[in-house]
Amino acid sequence: MSRILTGIQSSGRPHLGNILGAILPAIELSQQADNDSFLFIADLHSLTTLKEGEARREFVRAIAATWLAFGFDTIRNTMWRQSRVPEHTELAWYLNCFTPMPMLQNATSFKDKSEKLAAAVNAGLFTYPVLQAADILLYDANLVPVGKDQRQHIEMTRDIASTVNRQYGEEIFVLPEARIDERIMTIPGIDGAKMSKSYNNYIDIFLPANELYKVVKKIVSDSTPIDQPKNPATDITFQLYALLATDGQVSTMRQNYEAPEQRAGGYGYGHAKKELYELLIERFTTPRERFDELMAEGNPELERELRAGEEKAQAVASETISRVRRVMGFS
Ligand code: ADP
Ligand code: TRP
Repeated sequence: MSRILTGIQSSGRPHLGNILGAILPAIELSQQADNDSFLFIADLHSLTTLKEGEARREFVRAIAATWLAFGFDTIRNTMWRQSRVPEHTELAWYLNCFTPMPMLQNATSFKDKSEKLAAAVNAGLFTYPVLQAADILLYDANLVPVGKDQRQHIEMTRDIASTVNRQYGEEIFVLPEARIDERIMTIPGIDGAKMSKSYNNYIDIFLPANELYKVVKKIVSDSTPIDQPKNPATDITFQLYALLATDGQVSTMRQNYEAPEQRAGGYGYGHAKKELYELLIERFTTPRERFDELMAEGNPELERELRAGEEKAQAVASETISRVRRVMGFS
């Protein structure tokens, strides 16, 4: 049996890039018979950048609702909020004392963020990978599905875990492995750069239909006229469509791009965007409905799910923490 664990920061509502790149692959893994999956909302990590409490509360709910809307089975698996299981922060402190400063100073994500934020850089950003290591090691995870930007954090987790194991001469922690799907990682946003909350170029598939269509219409395209051939390989609408469509649908759209004169009135980017929008609605009908239901005010389902998950997570976390306290002399 493999224990799969992954977390997602509550710093925004999940967008199409998160869903295709992280959420669906993690749910798929959780559906394999031999796997036992732990999915959590990294709300403590989100405090490194997002300070507003109301926004965090909303994003935490949206992430949980997304997982449930896409069919994450919480009977077999576990879903919880990081902040509600205090063992995460407790273990993070212990691990801090085994983490060399230069390792954190050289972390790519820290270097990037401290350049961007300059004087506003906070110590939470610096120790971010240590809390992440605690998240993973607390649950004896074997596999951690993440995007390739997270590869270094998993390497650091392994380094920290080996240091502790070596120090105490026993296998306190399981060494986790990253599971990275190279193909899907860089889903483009509406401007062609990697889709990301931070670039404000994302597609929120849970928007009301008319707003979703407005976003799709904003996808950047070149100025090739409606009756002229277009290059599908360099067009963002086509790339997004190809991620969701069947092979048959893709080849039809490709033909329309390459030979628009074969259609009465030609085939322009507006047509392609309409097809992409319709496909999004069709493909995500059920999750969209379920998401709205779960997010509706007064529906106690989400909170109930999260609390039940917290209890399950805590049971595992407290066993690991007991092991750690024992060898370190805290119990
Ligand atoms: P964002 O860039 O929007 O802040 P996060 O860094 O919170 O997204 O990423 C959450 C998860 O979604 C990570 O596992 C990440 O690899 C994945 N992910 C984010 N953006 C994309 C994208 N454009 N394509 C594929 N996967 C993505
Ligand atoms: N750092 C991850 C990200 O930004 C989120 C995260 C926090 C995580 N703790 C984790 C991912 C533990 C995997 C395992 O995407």
